[in-house]
Amino acid sequence: MEQSIESYIKNLVRETIGHTLGELQIQSDRRVYVIANWKMNKNLADTAEFFQTIKSSDDVSVVVCPPAQLLYPAHLFISQQGKSIGLGAQNVHWAEKGAYTGESSASMLKDVGCEYCLIGHSERRQYSFEDDLLVNKKVQQAIKSGLIPIICIGETLEEKNLLQTEQVLFKQLFGALKDIDSSNFILAYEPVWAIGTGQSATAELAQQTHAYIRSVLKQIMGEKADGISILYGGSANESNAADYSAMPDIDGVLVGGASLNAQSFDGIINVFAKGEQNS
Ligand code: PGA
Repeated sequence: MEQSIESYIKNLVRETIGHTLGELQIQSDRRVYVIANWKMNKNLADTAEFFQTIKSSDDVSVVVCPPAQLLYPAHLFISQQGKSIGLGAQNVHWAEKGAYTGESSASMLKDVGCEYCLIGHSERRQYSFEDDLLVNKKVQQAIKSGLIPIICIGETLEEKNLLQTEQVLFKQLFGALKDIDSSNFILAYEPVWAIGTGQSATAELAQQTHAYIRSVLKQIMGEKADGISILYGGSANESNAADYSAMPDIDGVLVGGASLNAQSFDGIINVFAKGEQNS
């Protein structure tokens, strides 16, 4: 009897400590990403030059999302340079294959070297058919095919002014993650009013919103929410990167305009790499 009480306690302690360590592990393991979204910019020559110039980092995960036509050449340039840089697409179709003129399937994207895929960017959500339902179907297909979705969410200026930010994010999160069991995805909070405007969200506002997003994620997936990287996007650049990197719930940035220049994108990578070394 004594024996069994002792082993019961030992097991209990092991389970409790294991669990606690497990949780700490998840938090400290959250990966930091610096991701470039080139949108509809650059050609073959620019792409070659970019990957020659850009440095990779051991401390943060660097991912570049070129337009579809430049994905395979980008993959070759990255391999030639031997750099540890991930490749992402800017969009993916929800179906496995079929009569969808002009679209790219998840398996095609994987085939040309992609590991990641942006889904639900606001520049796509502006088309009325790109709603939460479609975003969810794309996330399902990406995960099923082994691509890591970078799911973009964010409120418009009008919604912000009407104090609807939390309501909008709540709906977008529950919509995008419906029936998703996997935690193999990345979130990007991109307030629409901050994209390409130079009007970036202050680091304090972004942190507050990221903490809200994580609280909603907890409702959806429990403690696993602590392991999900949440990136900020919207006029992020070399000058404001340090402020974002100092925030506990900001796990990197999704960069549009400032990612087109390899030197300034490198500058942002360096800021986050330093932040990681100091943490
Ligand atoms: P921006 O774009 O950095 O030019 O604001 C960000 C994005 O749209 O992902």
